Amino acid sequence: MSEAVIRPAAGYESTRPDLLASLDPLLRAWLPRQRWFAGKGRPVTGFSLVASTELLPSGLLHLLVRAQQPTVPAQGEAAPGPGDCYQLLLGFRRTLPPHLAPALIGHPEHGPLAGYAVYEGLHDPRVATLLLERLRTPGRSGVLRFELAPGADIPGGLAPRTLGAEQSNSSLVYGERFILKLLRRVVPGVNPDLELPLLLAREGCSRVPAPAAWCTAELDGTEPLTLGVLQPFLAGAEDGWELALRTLAKGDDFRAQAHALGRATAEVHAALASAAPTVSLGPPQREQIADAMLERLRATAQDVPMLRPYVSSLGAAFEELRELPDTDDLFAQRVHGDLHLGQCLRTADGSWNLIDFEGEPARPLAERRKPQPAVRDVAGMLRSFDYAARSHQPWAPRWAEDCRAAYCAGYAAGGGGDPYAYPALLRAFETDKAVYELLYEARHRPDWLPVPMAAIRRLADASGGPPHH
Ligand SMILES: Nc1ncnc2c1ncn2[C@@H]1O[C@H](COP(=O)(O)OP(=O)(O)O)[C@@H](O)[C@H]1O
Ligand SMILES: [Mg+2]
Repeated sequence: MSEAVIRPAAGYESTRPDLLASLDPLLRAWLPRQRWFAGKGRPVTGFSLVASTELLPSGLLHLLVRAQQPTVPAQGEAAPGPGDCYQLLLGFRRTLPPHLAPALIGHPEHGPLAGYAVYEGLHDPRVATLLLERLRTPGRSGVLRFELAPGADIPGGLAPRTLGAEQSNSSLVYGERFILKLLRRVVPGVNPDLELPLLLAREGCSRVPAPAAWCTAELDGTEPLTLGVLQPFLAGAEDGWELALRTLAKGDDFRAQAHALGRATAEVHAALASAAPTVSLGPPQREQIADAMLERLRATAQDVPMLRPYVSSLGAAFEELRELPDTDDLFAQRVHGDLHLGQCLRTADGSWNLIDFEGEPARPLAERRKPQPAVRDVAGMLRSFDYAARSHQPWAPRWAEDCRAAYCAGYAAGGGGDPYAYPALLRAFETDKAVYELLYEARHRPDWLPVPMAAIRRLADASGGPPHH
């Protein structure tokens, strides 16, 4: 991946020369077991320290470490990179109280932490509380910079709890009023999950919780890295995926919700289009999009043989992108980038919020921050309705079709333009998404392969004809 290289922070080696060496065997066993560890399936052969900051002189160490892993040489992949950089918050105590036993990482045998129990700090209310205190007061601690949004009002003393459902990040909820999302695999540059909600807040968009405080690392020779974002917690909100499954289980209609979701998406898109630069989607841009999609299709077909019979008809859908007219309403803008039902929260008053603007974490940051056709997000949601309908037994294809139509109608009603105005564009993005899903399921959840495969078949059939909706 073409991420900029993160260099070690100056001045570290002189202060704690053997810290990392003493933690090395502990982290080697612990890190690969973490859900957010991105390098699954490849052994960790060593660590290098990027930065260490003591946030609590006798109890909390903030580390940025790079995990060295031999890369499996994939097609077209360059020489092994320097390894992913992770953010760790290590607690250390002489004796670990019983309630923290499950958080134990280990006991270093030598080095500055010899004689201490080292543990996952986020599970310790004392550590979590300190972190919130640090976020409430802007300024620097070592390489870390803490910033507060203008006018942010964060009370002290909010009781912390961890959020169970962690995926690629770790979150803490404070007093049911704020949620702190800590990024785990970090790369240079502002994370869109901070950048876009900040832009949206300035734009007056109320569909996205506004960042209240955040933390970045400032390292020599690279752009600041986003480490964590604190935002209001939407207490009692239910995510769209849970709600959709519950609706399906009861045999209820979801069209009104899907319509409202379409409207919310259009509002967020409109705000993003006015808050960040847009670029026209002329022939060269469309050419580039079609080429990249075609490339992903071919590469996926190499790995997933069941895709092969459909490559030529799906490829034809991408070719159609080249023939679109040149009009002002075809443009690229900043988008959500990973929109699906699980990224939409419905609050108690029935309104929809969108969260998690990180984009697809597996893609390089520079790519995630590029303007893209808004229809990419629409396609993501359409695929998500399909997934929901497929997780219900028996399969509910009609439910998905109704939701898809209602969502697009809501999107158009919200001023976002009719997603069906350029069927070739929508079909291309839906196809690209289904191809991505196919690769993901083939690698991680083979039981789910029928879901993207059904879409692949439908999209291959629709290629050349009118869109299926
Ligand atoms: N502002 C919020 N209010 C309430 N719950 C939230 C909020 N932000 C995130 N969550 C909860 O945390 C989960 C994970 O957050 P998300 O930003 O999507 O992180 P991830 O990158 O791990 O998917 C969400 O699915 C949601 O349940
Ligand atoms: Mg998410």
